[in-house]
Amino acid sequence: MKKRVLSIMMATAMIATLMMGCGNKETPASAPAADNTPAANTEAPAADTSAADAEAPAAEASGSLADMKVGVCIYQFSDNFMTLFRTELENYLIAQGFSKDNIKIVDGANDQATQSGQIDNFIAEGVDVLIINPVNSSSAETITDKVVAANIPLVYINREPGEDEEKRWADNDWNVTYVGCDARQSGTFQGEMIVDLGLEKVDMNGNGKVDYIMVEGDPENVDAQYRTEFSVKALTDAGLEVECLSDQVGNWQQDQAQSIVANALAQYGNDVEVVFCNNDAMALGALQAIEAAGRTVGQDIYLVGVDALSEALENVLAGTMTGTVFNDHFSQSHSAADAAINYLTGAGNEHYIGCDYVKVTQDKAQEVLDMVK
Ligand code: GAL
Repeated sequence: MKKRVLSIMMATAMIATLMMGCGNKETPASAPAADNTPAANTEAPAADTSAADAEAPAAEASGSLADMKVGVCIYQFSDNFMTLFRTELENYLIAQGFSKDNIKIVDGANDQATQSGQIDNFIAEGVDVLIINPVNSSSAETITDKVVAANIPLVYINREPGEDEEKRWADNDWNVTYVGCDARQSGTFQGEMIVDLGLEKVDMNGNGKVDYIMVEGDPENVDAQYRTEFSVKALTDAGLEVECLSDQVGNWQQDQAQSIVANALAQYGNDVEVVFCNNDAMALGALQAIEAAGRTVGQDIYLVGVDALSEALENVLAGTMTGTVFNDHFSQSHSAADAAINYLTGAGNEHYIGCDYVKVTQDKAQEVLDMVK
């Protein structure tokens, strides 16, 4: 017998028009004041565990959870980070008592129309809860409306809907929440890793500035905008002058980043002192371009990413990447599953469930690698 305990359940153009190219970007209206930036957290990562080590679910809940159907929409299966996320999510859901057969995870193939059709299908199938990583954050309002109308609780992950949209969930007391980290923190950590090197070391062309190139993720994810903005802000907050040589969108993809960085290195040569990439996949592409150009990370150029993919951590350990930032897919996937369970059991959730990033320089890389491997 199914037990469904449900209450009745951005459009902001926050990231719609990312200005490309260098120059001072406006802080988006939705961004909080600078001093709301999460405090730097360089402590050892929380001893979060993978699903394999997860505690056994409460006996009373596990019986009914086995009958519950979970629909999971991922914006794109080929995304490295979201692959770690969805694998851990599925394992953890099973560890909590859901049946593998009742967990359906679908690939939106980076196309909102495809994903919207998948959501319609899940609604028609009568899933008990939906976990959605939207292709377009700006479609959240439409998605929320149809899911709420079908009385299905909804957990958004990874691509945060806008503030206005989140406010609607609270105002209407809907069973809708968002689980994710605050990307401002990851950007700040990236910048701090460069600040910590000291201007003398970084300013190899001696112009008194940090000359950098920025490779941005898909602007449909606010993470791209915030990482871009807050990495540079950490430099200027530390009193450093900066010079943006190139700022382009690599859509989270290694191959796109490789050609962007190869072109930028060809154009600006030794003036490029720092390469900021909004994620590790792109940092790995940047590294290929850096090596092909005969440059050496740690000696004549610095490179930072975000996510803490194993390959990136190996490079941080080897010194071929300056650093990365752990995007805790364990914590995020577990919190998303826990939020789904809280809706199903009637416990409910806050409308925003956060988590912390972790700064990863060479001294911490092995510790994080041991955790993610
Ligand atoms: C980010 C992550 C990227 C990419 C993106 C997808 O949080 O750092 O690598 O997975 O999410 O929306």
